[in-house]
Amino acid sequence: MRMVDLIEKKRNGQSHTKEEIRFIINGYTDESIPDYQMSAWAMAVFFQDMSEEEKAWLTEAMVHSGDTIDLSAIEGVKVDKHSTGGVGDTTTLVLAPLVASIGVPVAKMSGRGLGHTGGTIDKLEAIKGFNVEISNDTFIELVNKNKAAVIGQTQNLTPADKKLYGLRDVTATVNSIPLIASSIMSKKIASGADRIVLDVKTGAGAFMKELSQAKKLAEAMVTIGNNLGRQTSAIISDMSQPLGFMVGNALEVKEAIDTLKGEGPEDLTDLCLTLGSHMAVLAGKAESLERAKDILQEAIDSGKAIEQFKVFIAAQEGDATVVDYPEKLPQASYKIDVLSEIEGFVSGIVADQIGTAAMLLGAGRATKSSEIDLAVGLELKKKIGDTISIGEPLVTIHANSENISEVKSKILKSYKITPLEVEAPELIYDVLT
Ligand code: URA
Ligand code: CA
Repeated sequence: MRMVDLIEKKRNGQSHTKEEIRFIINGYTDESIPDYQMSAWAMAVFFQDMSEEEKAWLTEAMVHSGDTIDLSAIEGVKVDKHSTGGVGDTTTLVLAPLVASIGVPVAKMSGRGLGHTGGTIDKLEAIKGFNVEISNDTFIELVNKNKAAVIGQTQNLTPADKKLYGLRDVTATVNSIPLIASSIMSKKIASGADRIVLDVKTGAGAFMKELSQAKKLAEAMVTIGNNLGRQTSAIISDMSQPLGFMVGNALEVKEAIDTLKGEGPEDLTDLCLTLGSHMAVLAGKAESLERAKDILQEAIDSGKAIEQFKVFIAAQEGDATVVDYPEKLPQASYKIDVLSEIEGFVSGIVADQIGTAAMLLGAGRATKSSEIDLAVGLELKKKIGDTISIGEPLVTIHANSENISEVKSKILKSYKITPLEVEAPELIYDVLT
């Protein structure tokens, strides 16, 4: 087989066989296929798309390009959740203890990565003592005992995806549905998930700005999952503004604690109950989504969910008293309000601008070696549909420096305010099972 022939085939709109896709992915991983040929092929896929079968084969080939995690020693059906990314998305911190409290095993592997705020691991490290550097054996033991544990990712998962994603980033081929869908699904499958729940975001702050594109991506991923024997469901949710009120590491831990106590923001609570219901149904813990939602709500109301969070924190050497005394979480030195300069109704909050503002404060990593400041971040005081008058706070900045003029101007630019009354957006646009 020659790569040049396969590029031509795809360029002409024909489909690959399973063997051809394996040849491409294995060759790219072992460097017998160079970047320039892979770039040309990715561009051909961008224009010509892939069949359902090709997408499943591509995903499978990427899964097998590196290590795969075996979670079979964990009792029960392992359901993993994936979000296509947003700003202030605190759902993992809420969902892990919430679904664990009703008996769904949560074996979470997480990386640090780049972003507006840290990843789940960074957020958990805002809790004093919390240790994610545990052995695989301890990890499995903890999930079996407490139904939830988090481990830092050390294995070499999906190297083909890492290389290809990097190449796509510099060749204008990121935004291709077959390439995005196979990239995301290969990572979930390699990390050992039996079943998968996807939260595909749409809106100004999301990867997929248009609802129609978000739907296509969700359909592609659900089909890949089902074709590879991993039952998958997806919801499409709103990212026309950040989720919840808090954007930052310690701040989001506080928000997760509130939500597990039943005192969290409405949008975050609803989204967690919806995603949690899908997880519970896929794990066989409830016969219907409605029933699952009732069981999860009951876990919050009875205090079972927040108790589970304490057990989970303590099991990984963290200070579980933060649950009752959240003021023990890292606190920023300055709290500075950003005041509105106009009056009207909030009609949009450009989430990625808010994310960048949080990153400028030090809440996220701009480069791999940047240090995160766990205490800093943003607290939104107004969301879409709210009224605002001149001089009223839009956001409270939690900073460790008084030099925040750039952060302030980003926040003011991200808030869209109109004189006309605006309704709060729908949270969930669609569900695919
Ligand atoms: N996220 C991923 O993991 N892969 C993509 O291709 C796009 C977003
Ligand atoms: Ca949040």
